[in-house]
Amino acid sequence: MTSSLTLTRPDDWHLHVRDGAALQTVVPHTAAQFGRAIIMPNLKPPVTTAELALAYKSRIMAKAKAAGVVACKLYPAGATTNSDAGVTDLKKIYPTLEAMQKVGMLLLVHGEVTSSDIDLFDREAAFIDTQLIPLRRDFPELKIVFEHITTQDAADYVMAADRFVGATLTAHHLLYNRNAIFTGGIRPHYYCLPVLKREKHRVALLNAATSGNTRFFLGTDSAPHPAHLKEHASGCAGCYTAHAALEMYAEAFDSVGKLAQLEAFASFNGADFYGLPRNTGTITLKREAWTPPESFQFGEAELKPLRSGEALPWRVA
Ligand code: NCD
Ligand code: ZN
Repeated sequence: MTSSLTLTRPDDWHLHVRDGAALQTVVPHTAAQFGRAIIMPNLKPPVTTAELALAYKSRIMAKAKAAGVVACKLYPAGATTNSDAGVTDLKKIYPTLEAMQKVGMLLLVHGEVTSSDIDLFDREAAFIDTQLIPLRRDFPELKIVFEHITTQDAADYVMAADRFVGATLTAHHLLYNRNAIFTGGIRPHYYCLPVLKREKHRVALLNAATSGNTRFFLGTDSAPHPAHLKEHASGCAGCYTAHAALEMYAEAFDSVGKLAQLEAFASFNGADFYGLPRNTGTITLKREAWTPPESFQFGEAELKPLRSGEALPWRVA
């Protein structure tokens, strides 16, 4: 049984860190494990210009200290988390997509439709059929990252696609199915978007992540929220995993005997897809049980991480 695993320093290709006092808690967690991160700019107000993005980047860098580069990236409005982007909306950004395709800029997509006639659990599959397939037909050489995929449909789609399509996978979608949200009562800390799916989807995602296909890579979608806004009559979506991200991925890969595939998934595939150099340092995981704290301070509020008070089998040394 493997008891220790040394990897090239990994990157997190999908991360939320918020702003202001919250940065102080969450940026060091990510910086302790990852060399770089793509920071999703869904703030209130949103980051919509290059100028705002650069200012935001410098606020993040002030908390990232020694741990290397944390990159910021804009993703086009209309095709992402505010996913009221129907085909008409995508059509509106066609000139932008055309320009992005030409210069080789990546489009990062939150792949869900949100119309009320589509079942919540079918949003991702519907997105593939109604938006992604037409988009790819019109922009066959636009590089697309299908973010935080959650279904067998998406895994199959990406597996069958060409070198222009990659996908990020979260640790929580590799470890949990939708039962986690309802075990023993409603458990708001397991509620995220895209929502956890059936077991068959979790198994398909884990197969994809550990398959050796180089277009699947690590993106935690770690999404911190104040605990009181998650434990709420209308609780917000997002699982916080940055405090133990690599440990959770190791647990998932180990569960199917595929620890040997973790380095490519965590440290090589994303950088290669983005056309960026791989990191040079290393990080070591040990098989050593530990228990994350019940909560972290989060500005004036509390942040409850996934697996709080519950043992994890792997630990970053
Ligand atoms: C994200 C957040 O809180 O910013 N929440 C989540 O459940 N993943 C937004 C998002 O990525 O949809
Ligand atoms: Zn996200």
